[in-house]
Amino acid sequence: MKSFYVKTFGCQMNENDSERIVAVLRRQGMTPALSADVADVVVFNTCTIRENADNRFFGQVNMLRERRVREPGMRIVVAGCLAQGEKDAIFDRAPHVDVVVGTHAIGSIADLLERSDEERHVIDVSIGDGSIDPMVDLVPEPAEGHKAWVTIQTGCDNNCAFCIVPQVRGPEVSRPFGAIVDEVRRLAEQGISEVTLLGQNVNSYGRDLTKRLRRTSDGIHDHGFLAGPVYVSDGIRRIRPLFSDLLRAVSGVDGIRRVRFTSPHPKDMREETFAAMAESPAVCESLHFPLQSGSDRVLAAMHRGYRGERFFEKLELARSIIPDLAVTTDIIVGFPGETEDEFEATLELVARCEFDSAFTFIYSPRPGTEAGAWTDKFVDPEVIRDRFERLKLVTERSGAAKHRARVGKIEEILIDGPSKRDANVASGRTRQNKLVHLAGVDGERLRGSYLNARIVDAGAHFLHGELLGPPARGAHASC
Ligand code: 5AD
Ligand code: SF4
Repeated sequence: MKSFYVKTFGCQMNENDSERIVAVLRRQGMTPALSADVADVVVFNTCTIRENADNRFFGQVNMLRERRVREPGMRIVVAGCLAQGEKDAIFDRAPHVDVVVGTHAIGSIADLLERSDEERHVIDVSIGDGSIDPMVDLVPEPAEGHKAWVTIQTGCDNNCAFCIVPQVRGPEVSRPFGAIVDEVRRLAEQGISEVTLLGQNVNSYGRDLTKRLRRTSDGIHDHGFLAGPVYVSDGIRRIRPLFSDLLRAVSGVDGIRRVRFTSPHPKDMREETFAAMAESPAVCESLHFPLQSGSDRVLAAMHRGYRGERFFEKLELARSIIPDLAVTTDIIVGFPGETEDEFEATLELVARCEFDSAFTFIYSPRPGTEAGAWTDKFVDPEVIRDRFERLKLVTERSGAAKHRARVGKIEEILIDGPSKRDANVASGRTRQNKLVHLAGVDGERLRGSYLNARIVDAGAHFLHGELLGPPARGAHASC
């Protein structure tokens, strides 16, 4: 019996794809190994969003070179975004790799492994035929027993000038509404109580489905399964996006207590999505809202489709509709041509937005992207580093204030398990997705439980809480 080890780089979409890879390999009778050093098959599920992700992968795969040469039966598989975009570079820089499998070809990993007994370098980076649900046979194995990712859409139809995702993930394809709700139902039956809906542009979910439904000749009969019952029964919905309907449907599934989603695009964000969030008790008060820059010129050069002021108005609208909303964001520093004044516009807008936290990135030129070719406009790395530190001060200030504002509040915590540092401390998340540590609480026993705690202290990256009385009988999700 062969063993496997899957190493994942990058975003939640990759995490979810890795869970599919695990399911495919298990179906072949393989068993999980404890580390890459002892596994018969090592799968790297790669990311290529920034150059440092590429470098980390090549560093790790090259550490297996000697072992691969020594052990002819061992196999190395490279999956994911880098595999899709740079298949030739992978074999050039790491010739000991056996299989390269793209973002749409996970289902063929077992066949490719078999072929690798006969062929030296095996590749499948085909994009698929856009069939009704490319994931229907690829049910992921959730890594945790109480929460799960659910991919609702793959690819991206936008063309942000910095971003390689459309090249490596292809055009936007939404999974059928009914397939997603069925998947969430199945997860709930297994004891999962929190789901995070995933897509590159999650709030434009269904745009392609409704286009498809207007072309009646393509032989799709089961409109309800494809686009949801509301769409079918209510003619008005035909011009409206389906994401808000999906949020309502998923949050109504028995056993689902928390629904999250990531990442939406601000330009496509509509009031009805905020309304669906507010009106669906399971949808958490947490929104990732990627700003990228606060300068209108930079936003236009990035092709983001909104101005800073419009972003701010939408944020205010969200906060007015959804009480107690926590908002996180992404910001890129040093986009080609970014001037000091433009960077200061970012600082100003970020300060006004008062984000709960921000993922800040140094611009990384990606081959084949529009901005990657603007070499004459690249910003000096020293200047970027200085801007990066200044931006961090602003985002950390609002983050700390938001954390302090939780002190004294009673929060519902979903326990994820013992803290990584101390087995006598349990860690969990509030509905706002803030990390909370609870001293003297048995995280192992209470994993998956919902407990109420009072927040007693706030650090930069986590909160401290105190349980309100002993956990109720049956607090454990599986009781
Ligand atoms: N350089 C730096 N950051 C990037 N991102 C995407 N592409 C790049 C790049 N080339 C960031 C964006 C996006 C997040 C997932 O990664 O902020 O929202
Ligand atoms: Fe990349 Fe823009 Fe698509 Fe997001 S919306 S995946 S940043 S192209």
